Amino acid sequence: MRASIHDNHFLLRRLHSALGLLPLGGFLIFHLWENSQSRFGPEHYNAQVAAIQDINYLLIIEVLVIALPLLLHAGYGLVIIGSGSAEPLRYSYARNWLYWLQRISGIAIIAFLALHLGLTRIAALLDPQINADLFRYMQQSLSQPVTLILYLFGLWLSVFHFANGLATAAISWGLTTDAAAQRRFGWFCIGSGLVLGALGTHGLIGFLK
Ligand code: HEM
Ligand code: HEM
Repeated sequence: MRASIHDNHFLLRRLHSALGLLPLGGFLIFHLWENSQSRFGPEHYNAQVAAIQDINYLLIIEVLVIALPLLLHAGYGLVIIGSGSAEPLRYSYARNWLYWLQRISGIAIIAFLALHLGLTRIAALLDPQINADLFRYMQQSLSQPVTLILYLFGLWLSVFHFANGLATAAISWGLTTDAAAQRRFGWFCIGSGLVLGALGTHGLIGFLK
């Protein structure tokens, strides 16, 4: 049966896709840029974080733009994974791999976020001193090789998930309808993913001095 606008599952898929693209993808780009400010030293980084924490209605913005979209996208993502699908069997070998990697990276992002939020937001709630000098706190945290490696994994998996998601979203929204357009846009997504991953890695290196 063809999916239609009257089909709940179709609407939920569209919502899932839109949330992944705009609030979450937008947040990821902003967050990696924010953390790349580490390259300009502790004073600059801490001032940047303080300026952001000074924004009016920040908590409401964080709930509406980050927490809620993440919960909805991850929650419905798990439903999609749990329900399985015979669709990938029709795909080429490479597409089949990307299909599964999209799902595996989604689950891995949940694990990374549990660790990451525990080490940053939750740790800062328990110890308010952390926010006073977030740069040095991150520096200490990332000086442990295990933490650094987990951050690199979390970063590149998130970037892969977003870049591959961009390519599949363009297909689901009907923007790339033939194989040539999908290939061209695929290259654009690979390029964007590499730039975003490099920005995040650049930011991590900024804490290693
Ligand atoms: C380059 C690696 C990363 C570094 C150095 C980093 C650093 C931080 C820091 C210092 C905080 C707490 C302070 C703040 O609010 O900005 C934070 C919060 C957060 N990070 Fe990251 N992060 C990295 C990658 C990621 C990735 C890949 C994701 C997405 C999967 C992510 C998602 C979040 C979320 C959801 C929060 C809480 C919301 C917020 O405080 O803005 N982070 N991160
Ligand atoms: C930084 C966090 C995240 C971002 C930026 C993000 C972004 C995206 C984007 C843009 C898509 C493409 C949607 C489409 O094909 O129309 C997608 C798909 C997907 N995401 Fe996420 N996502 C994130 C976190 C998660 C998490 C935590 C899960 C939990 C399992 C998840 C599960 C999925 C699944 C299963 C798909 C494939 C849906 C399908 O094939 O129809 N995502 N994501």
